[in-house]
Amino acid sequence: MGAYYDDAVVKELTDSIVARGESLLQIFREHDDEREQATFLHRQAGPMPFDTIIDAGCGTGAMARHWHAVDPNLKFKLLNIGAAQLAHADPDMEQSVGDIEAMPYPPACANGVVFSYVLGHCDLDKALSEAWRVLRPGGWIFIYDMATMEQRIRVLNYDIRPARDLFKAIRRQGFHCPKAWINAGKSMSKVCIGECGSLDQLKTLLEGAYSISLKFHKPTGEAHEC
Ligand SMILES: C[S@@+](CC[C@H](N)C(=O)[O-])C[C@H]1O[C@@H](n2cnc3c(N)ncnc32)[C@H](O)[C@@H]1O
Repeated sequence: MGAYYDDAVVKELTDSIVARGESLLQIFREHDDEREQATFLHRQAGPMPFDTIIDAGCGTGAMARHWHAVDPNLKFKLLNIGAAQLAHADPDMEQSVGDIEAMPYPPACANGVVFSYVLGHCDLDKALSEAWRVLRPGGWIFIYDMATMEQRIRVLNYDIRPARDLFKAIRRQGFHCPKAWINAGKSMSKVCIGECGSLDQLKTLLEGAYSISLKFHKPTGEAHEC
């Protein structure tokens, strides 16, 4: 949970970030405009017709809000470790305060789980095993995050893991049928730049890290499904 331990501090920081016009909490971006960024990720994560999606570590709920605007058939369960950021989310969406390592949901209640810039805050195997538990057969996980080629690095209190470790952990759970993208990551969050001084400083800290998207499926049990 780390940096997100103190809800009052998170509230103050998040309120000021939102007041500056930012609501996606993602370091690397493919687009400066948040709607375009979220739409880009919606395209990567699709298809997801009529799906119920858990946004695990949902931040301000901005990604769910944008995805729902693109596709009103999607239903969301927003999950965050604290209440402060959920206060910015769409009040019509189901919201829960809880840990992605022990999700407050029954088994097989969702078609998809999104992990966007959150797995570096937690135990990878625990979060993925929870995703497996809450997904119906045929369900999917979509991960948008940073990865490295070689060594694990820790930046701004966040673990950035080698891509091969992510793949191994995901496969260890039983997920299959991967789709993977190395993104351009050409834009960077102004929020994080603010926190660590300058864009150059941030780029130095993130040397060796790049932006990835991954989609994997939970098998349905039928043969030859990929
Ligand atoms: C960098 S932000 C990403 C927010 C959002 N997913 C996005 O893409 O804009 C990380 C989020 O994960 C949440 N978080 C961190 N650790 C968590 C945990 N163990 N369980 C649930 N949420 C967690 C934080 O509260 C924060 O909202």
